[in-house]
Amino acid sequence: MQLTLNEKIFTFFATLIEKICGISYSLEKIYLIKGELYKIAQSFGYESLEKFYLKIRDDFETGKVNSHLLREIVDRLVINETQFFRDFHPFEVLRKYLLPKLFWEKRKDRKISIWSAGCSTGQEPYSIAMILLEYFSFQLFNYDLKIWATDISFSNLEKAKKGLYSNSEIGRGVPVHFLFKYFKSKNSEWEIREEVKALVKFDFLNLIEAEKKVFEKFDLIFCRYVLIYFSDSIKEKIWETLWNSLNSGGCLILGATELAPKSFPDMEKKIIDKVTLFFKK
Ligand SMILES: C[S@@+](CC[C@H](N)C(=O)[O-])C[C@H]1O[C@@H](n2cnc3c(N)ncnc32)[C@H](O)[C@@H]1O
Repeated sequence: MQLTLNEKIFTFFATLIEKICGISYSLEKIYLIKGELYKIAQSFGYESLEKFYLKIRDDFETGKVNSHLLREIVDRLVINETQFFRDFHPFEVLRKYLLPKLFWEKRKDRKISIWSAGCSTGQEPYSIAMILLEYFSFQLFNYDLKIWATDISFSNLEKAKKGLYSNSEIGRGVPVHFLFKYFKSKNSEWEIREEVKALVKFDFLNLIEAEKKVFEKFDLIFCRYVLIYFSDSIKEKIWETLWNSLNSGGCLILGATELAPKSFPDMEKKIIDKVTLFFKK
């Protein structure tokens, strides 16, 4: 099949994106990134997408890739959609079931570590942190609570670290009593309070490389609405890495509509209050 120039350009960028971060854009979904590609080309001073494409293609062929530009492409083409307490039920299950279970199981070493993999602009790990603060309010100094939040997008991580959110971001999920307890108003925005920030450590991590970079084990792993964008083979590979990063007795949580790419002999699936949980025996 002969591709048009536009199709050739988009196929090139789709292949590039899949290589860098695993996100798979088929030609039918290319309309999703078309506008962003134009914007990136313009911001780097190219008057047409074709010239931008030719430059990047040549850079790749001659091994002179501009890492700043690649970073910008990834930042603009990843899907950041997120919100505080997204889907509500997983956070209720965390509060009502998972934390009481961990509280009991970890009563000796009193260390609980949670990984939010693909944390976007911070709403997911901060929602987890607020639930931890609620649950452990009287035991806070007796427990070592840690949330590791990682993402591939530097601009997402920058925003997450600042912890500043607009009224509309707050309006999408933050209960009013949490707003007054865990945020302070700053100009026309809301800043997450230090006690919440203190529980979360943000880091850059490309999940494709996680297998070689993550050696720690976690009690809970949230990887919600991240794997859906990957091809089946990449999904399986990352899923295996996440599974290997889970402590025994630990639990992995996906997005509401997501299925486990693969099951393991030590995996036990439970559905509690509409949330599917994958426990490691
Ligand atoms: C749709 S958001 C989901 C955010 C959050 N987990 C939630 O459910 O609200 C997907 C996130 O995955 C990140 N992401 C995509 N590919 C990634 C990769 N290869 N490594 C790490 N993060 C990635 C994106 O930057 C984006 O922030």
